[in-house]
Amino acid sequence: VSRSQPGGSLCRDLGSEGALNACSNELKVPYEEGRINMKKLRGIIFDLDGVICSTDEYHYLAWKALAECMAIPFDRERNNLLRGVSRMESLEIILARGTKVYTEEEKIAFAEKKNMIYRSLLAQMSTSDLAEDVRNTLDVLKTSGIKLAIGSSSKNAPFILDRIGLSTFFDAVADGNCILRSKPDPEVFLLAASLLKLDPPECIVVEDAHAGVEAAVNGGFRCAAMGDAIDDERATWHLKRFADLLQIVA
Ligand code: BG6
Ligand code: MG
Repeated sequence: VSRSQPGGSLCRDLGSEGALNACSNELKVPYEEGRINMKKLRGIIFDLDGVICSTDEYHYLAWKALAECMAIPFDRERNNLLRGVSRMESLEIILARGTKVYTEEEKIAFAEKKNMIYRSLLAQMSTSDLAEDVRNTLDVLKTSGIKLAIGSSSKNAPFILDRIGLSTFFDAVADGNCILRSKPDPEVFLLAASLLKLDPPECIVVEDAHAGVEAAVNGGFRCAAMGDAIDDERATWHLKRFADLLQIVA
């Protein structure tokens, strides 16, 4: 058990052991009295949409197109409630603003329609949609021996990772295809950690959704929040830029 003082230096020993054991980074956390459960950082679990790439914008555009067809009010503020939440739960949040009641079959058809619009936007993505600071930061983290995983509610995660050239980059991918409950339930992060063979206190989660920060905390992870969730007080770190992650693990 150890902890870093503000601005303190970290111990890093990339010895000759295997990748998992080689990492002995200690987490640099804001100094806080009573924080005694520090564990060495061995894994980082990234949300995908809005963290690794800007597909959160495509979700917004696709839901907006659907909502307009249905004459339901929808804006960016409402869209923020959908971050981290599954496709069907997102649809329910949108329909709650309308007046009509739909059958389950109709709802499935609406969700499929949104997904078709969304997939047509994803299909236009390429490796150039992976921002340079994200690419560089991921490369540095990988070289340090820290295990890297995706923890996303999206069923489109494999397609997106393929479009941006990261389909074989991560040590583990846990996504909407392998979970029953989406964020704020911690299931996807717990799955990602178990695929990495790590315990939650050995990992941090990077999230742009309040539901995702909540999921991380619910699962016993510390969280680095960014984007829409940057001010979430449940997070341990608040990242102005993706590359700020390097200051946490440096
Ligand atoms: C999450 C997004 O990553 O995936 C949510 O933040 C989205 O907005 C959810 O609803 C499910 O995505 P998909 O691609 O399976 O419809
Ligand atoms: Mg997200």
